[in-house]
Amino acid sequence: MRRAAESCDRSLTSDLADIEGLAYYLYRSAARPGLNAEDLQLILSSARRRNQSLGLTGCLHHEDGLFFQWLEGPADGLREVVALLEADERHQDLLVLDQGALQHRRFQDWRMRFSDRDRASLMDWFAGSDSSTVHRGDYVGGVVAFMMSVTV
Ligand SMILES: Cc1cc2nc3c(=O)[nH]c(=O)nc-3n(C[C@H](O)[C@H](O)[C@H](O)COP(=O)(O)O)c2cc1C
Repeated sequence: MRRAAESCDRSLTSDLADIEGLAYYLYRSAARPGLNAEDLQLILSSARRRNQSLGLTGCLHHEDGLFFQWLEGPADGLREVVALLEADERHQDLLVLDQGALQHRRFQDWRMRFSDRDRASLMDWFAGSDSSTVHRGDYVGGVVAFMMSVTV
Protein backbone atom coordinates (compact mmCIF):
# COMPACT_ATOMS: atom_id res chain seq x y z
CA MET A 1 0.00 0.00 0.00
CA ARG A 2 1.32 3.41 -0.92
CA ARG A 3 1.44 5.82 1.98
CA ALA A 4 -0.01 9.29 1.50
CA ALA A 5 3.31 11.08 1.97
CA GLU A 6 4.88 8.96 -0.75
CA SER A 7 2.16 9.93 -3.16
CA CYS A 8 3.03 13.64 -2.87
CA ASP A 9 4.75 14.10 -6.20
CA ARG A 10 8.00 15.53 -4.92
CA SER A 11 10.57 17.47 -6.84
CA LEU A 12 14.25 16.66 -6.41
CA THR A 13 14.54 19.35 -3.80
CA SER A 14 12.18 19.37 -0.87
CA ASP A 15 12.61 23.12 -0.47
CA LEU A 16 10.01 25.58 -1.77
CA ALA A 17 12.59 28.02 -3.16
CA ASP A 18 13.04 26.53 -6.63
CA ILE A 19 9.47 25.51 -7.35
CA GLU A 20 7.51 27.40 -9.99
CA GLY A 21 4.22 25.49 -10.19
CA LEU A 22 2.06 23.99 -7.49
CA ALA A 23 3.66 23.29 -4.12
CA TYR A 24 2.65 22.09 -0.67
CA TYR A 25 3.78 22.79 2.88
CA LEU A 26 2.93 20.62 5.88
CA TYR A 27 3.86 21.59 9.43
CA ARG A 28 3.07 21.05 13.06
CA SER A 29 3.17 23.82 15.67
CA ALA A 30 2.09 24.48 19.23
CA ALA A 31 -0.68 26.98 19.84
CA ARG A 32 0.42 29.89 22.01
CA PRO A 33 -0.70 29.19 25.59
CA GLY A 34 -4.05 30.87 26.23
CA LEU A 35 -5.10 30.98 22.59
CA ASN A 36 -8.90 30.92 22.69
CA ALA A 37 -11.81 30.25 20.34
CA GLU A 38 -12.04 33.91 19.38
CA ASP A 39 -8.34 34.02 18.45
CA LEU A 40 -8.88 30.91 16.36
CA GLN A 41 -11.76 32.51 14.49
CA LEU A 42 -9.58 35.54 13.70
CA ILE A 43 -6.82 33.28 12.39
CA LEU A 44 -9.27 31.41 10.18
CA SER A 45 -10.97 34.47 8.76
CA SER A 46 -7.73 36.21 7.79
CA ALA A 47 -6.28 32.91 6.53
CA ARG A 48 -9.27 32.27 4.30
CA ARG A 49 -9.23 35.82 2.96
CA ARG A 50 -5.58 35.70 1.98
CA ASN A 51 -5.73 32.11 0.73
CA GLN A 52 -8.64 33.05 -1.52
CA SER A 53 -6.69 35.93 -3.03
CA LEU A 54 -3.52 33.87 -3.53
CA GLY A 55 -5.28 30.74 -4.78
CA LEU A 56 -4.19 28.64 -1.80
CA THR A 57 -6.19 25.75 -0.38
CA GLY A 58 -5.65 23.35 2.50
CA CYS A 59 -6.66 22.30 5.97
CA LEU A 60 -5.88 23.12 9.56
CA HIS A 61 -6.36 20.63 12.38
CA HIS A 62 -6.21 21.67 16.03
CA GLU A 63 -5.85 19.06 18.76
CA ASP A 64 -4.42 19.04 22.29
CA GLY A 65 -2.78 22.44 21.82
CA LEU A 66 -1.15 21.48 18.53
CA PHE A 67 -1.81 22.74 15.01
CA PHE A 68 -1.30 20.58 11.93
CA GLN A 69 -1.65 22.43 8.64
CA TRP A 70 -1.46 21.41 4.99
CA LEU A 71 -1.22 24.33 2.56
CA GLU A 72 -1.08 23.97 -1.20
CA GLY A 73 -1.14 26.24 -4.23
CA PRO A 74 1.08 28.33 -6.49
CA ALA A 75 4.60 28.33 -5.00
CA ASP A 76 4.87 32.15 -4.99
CA GLY A 77 1.77 32.59 -2.87
CA LEU A 78 2.72 29.67 -0.67
CA ARG A 79 6.14 31.18 0.08
CA GLU A 80 4.41 34.46 1.02
CA VAL A 81 2.12 32.76 3.52
CA VAL A 82 4.87 30.54 4.93
CA ALA A 83 6.86 33.70 5.78
CA LEU A 84 3.80 35.08 7.61
CA LEU A 85 3.23 31.80 9.41
CA GLU A 86 6.81 31.58 10.58
CA ALA A 87 6.57 35.06 12.10
CA ASP A 88 3.14 34.57 13.68
CA GLU A 89 3.36 34.61 17.48
CA ARG A 90 -0.01 32.92 17.92
CA HIS A 91 1.85 29.64 17.55
CA GLN A 92 5.39 28.44 18.30
CA ASP A 93 7.82 25.56 17.76
CA LEU A 94 6.86 25.30 14.10
CA LEU A 95 8.22 22.04 12.71
CA VAL A 96 8.12 21.55 8.93
CA LEU A 97 7.00 17.97 8.36
CA ASP A 98 7.16 18.04 4.58
CA GLN A 99 7.20 20.43 1.63
CA GLY A 100 7.77 20.25 -2.09
CA ALA A 101 6.26 20.29 -5.57
CA LEU A 102 2.76 18.97 -6.06
CA GLN A 103 0.97 17.60 -9.11
CA HIS A 104 -2.63 17.77 -7.92
CA ARG A 105 -4.31 19.61 -5.09
CA ARG A 106 -5.73 17.53 -2.25
CA PHE A 107 -8.07 20.13 -0.76
CA GLN A 108 -9.19 22.05 -3.83
CA ASP A 109 -12.60 22.92 -2.39
CA TRP A 110 -11.23 24.45 0.79
CA ARG A 111 -9.76 27.93 1.33
CA MET A 112 -8.81 26.47 4.72
CA ARG A 113 -10.82 23.58 6.10
CA PHE A 114 -10.82 23.48 9.87
CA SER A 115 -11.19 20.48 12.15
CA ASP A 116 -10.60 19.82 15.82
CA ARG A 117 -10.78 16.94 18.26
CA ASP A 118 -14.59 17.15 18.39
CA ARG A 119 -14.67 16.35 14.68
CA ALA A 120 -11.85 13.83 14.41
CA SER A 121 -8.83 12.87 16.49
CA LEU A 122 -5.38 12.41 15.02
CA MET A 123 -4.30 10.58 18.18
CA ASP A 124 -7.20 8.15 17.87
CA TRP A 125 -6.45 7.74 14.16
CA PHE A 126 -2.83 6.76 14.92
CA ALA A 127 -3.97 4.42 17.71
CA GLY A 128 -6.16 2.56 15.22
CA SER A 129 -3.64 2.46 12.37
CA ASP A 130 -0.46 0.56 11.58
CA SER A 131 1.44 3.83 11.10
CA SER A 132 4.26 4.49 13.50
CA THR A 133 4.51 7.85 15.26
CA VAL A 134 8.22 7.14 15.77
CA HIS A 135 9.46 6.82 12.18
CA ARG A 136 9.31 10.17 10.46
CA GLY A 137 8.07 8.95 7.08
CA ASP A 138 5.27 6.97 8.74
CA TYR A 139 4.38 9.90 10.96
CA VAL A 140 4.18 12.38 8.08
CA GLY A 141 2.24 9.89 5.93
CA GLY A 142 -0.12 9.25 8.84
CA VAL A 143 -0.80 12.96 9.36
CA VAL A 144 -1.61 13.40 5.66
CA ALA A 145 -3.77 10.26 5.52
CA PHE A 146 -5.64 11.42 8.63
CA MET A 147 -6.24 14.89 7.16
CA MET A 148 -7.56 13.37 3.96
CA SER A 149 -9.86 11.05 5.90
CA VAL A 150 -11.60 13.82 7.87
CA THR A 151 -15.10 14.67 6.69
CA VAL A 152 -16.38 18.11 7.62
C1 LIG B 1 -2.06 28.08 12.99
C2 LIG B 1 -2.12 29.22 12.01
C3 LIG B 1 -2.51 28.97 10.70
C4 LIG B 1 -2.57 30.02 9.77
N1 LIG B 1 -2.93 29.75 8.48
C5 LIG B 1 -2.91 30.75 7.56
C6 LIG B 1 -3.25 30.50 6.20
O1 LIG B 1 -3.59 29.40 5.80
N2 LIG B 1 -3.20 31.55 5.33
C7 LIG B 1 -2.88 32.82 5.74
O2 LIG B 1 -2.85 33.73 4.92
N3 LIG B 1 -2.57 33.08 7.02
C8 LIG B 1 -2.58 32.09 7.93
N4 LIG B 1 -2.30 32.36 9.25
C9 LIG B 1 -2.14 33.77 9.64
C10 LIG B 1 -0.81 34.33 9.22
O3 LIG B 1 0.19 33.82 10.06
C11 LIG B 1 -0.88 35.87 9.30
O4 LIG B 1 -1.06 36.26 10.62
C12 LIG B 1 -2.01 36.44 8.53
O5 LIG B 1 -2.00 35.94 7.23
C13 LIG B 1 -1.91 37.96 8.52
O6 LIG B 1 -2.99 38.42 7.78
P1 LIG B 1 -3.79 39.73 8.18
O7 LIG B 1 -2.80 40.84 8.08
O8 LIG B 1 -4.89 39.78 7.18
O9 LIG B 1 -4.30 39.48 9.58
C14 LIG B 1 -2.24 31.32 10.17
C15 LIG B 1 -1.83 31.57 11.51
C16 LIG B 1 -1.78 30.53 12.40
C17 LIG B 1 -1.36 30.82 13.82
